[in-house]
Amino acid sequence: MPETPSSLHVSPHPLVAHKLALLRDKHTEPKQFRELVRELTWLLGYEAMADLSLQPSRIETPLEPMDAQRLEPRVGLIPILRAGLGMVDAMLELLPTAEVWHIGLYRDERTLKPVEYYNKLPDAATVQVCLILDPMLATGGSSAATVDILKHWGAARVKQLSLIAAPEGVRTLSSTHPDVDIHVAALDSHLNERGYIVPGLGDAGDRQFGTFAGPASEPGHGPDPHTAEVVRNLQRDLRNE
Ligand code: PRP
Ligand code: URA
Repeated sequence: MPETPSSLHVSPHPLVAHKLALLRDKHTEPKQFRELVRELTWLLGYEAMADLSLQPSRIETPLEPMDAQRLEPRVGLIPILRAGLGMVDAMLELLPTAEVWHIGLYRDERTLKPVEYYNKLPDAATVQVCLILDPMLATGGSSAATVDILKHWGAARVKQLSLIAAPEGVRTLSSTHPDVDIHVAALDSHLNERGYIVPGLGDAGDRQFGTFAGPASEPGHGPDPHTAEVVRNLQRDLRNE
């Protein structure tokens, strides 16, 4: 059994476990699903920000002046389209001055490789800390590609905030970017032959936005031999670690 990397933080909070159970349930409808994504993001985001640095700040209370503290780094929220969108509002409640920079990636269903389709980052980084928002860390391809983009941009520090991770995805991200902290509500068992997290929650984007196009889009339907081979390779790398 491979060791869990020190960069992985699985929330121990009972409220997180409770809300995650509701989120996973196949009977949970998109409205409640979106509410739960928001609530879980708030709880995980609070934990993920626990090590942000502070700087002294002189203020005056109604009674007297005092030396208080304020957050030092500028923080950027990086939702990965589409499913990461549902995590933005909760993070903006915690960090109202955060900048939001969207990255558009979708996962090619057959190769499971990320395909970039939207990126409007300016030339130079405008924030020091970047928090990638994406509910699912499956193969880790989307996340690792986003970290590459953000480091190339000049971000000094990157964290990943996801609701559920697969061991295969944690391995990909922690081996390519060991400096990236990964905050999740749960570490699940494995990926199935189509690259879906098991037991997982299905397709996080479809469940948030109610886009169920029929059996062909549902996890577990019609495995492609090439996709199954990609997953087997990831699982072999994980075992050989
Ligand atoms: C999902 C999810 C991640 C990605 C995770 O997005 O939101 O971005 O898959 O998979 P990976 O770790 O194997 O890269 P999807 O490609 O389904 O796009 P969507 O959010 O537009 O539905
Ligand atoms: N994307 C999802 O939405 N769910 C998974 O299980 C894997 C990738």
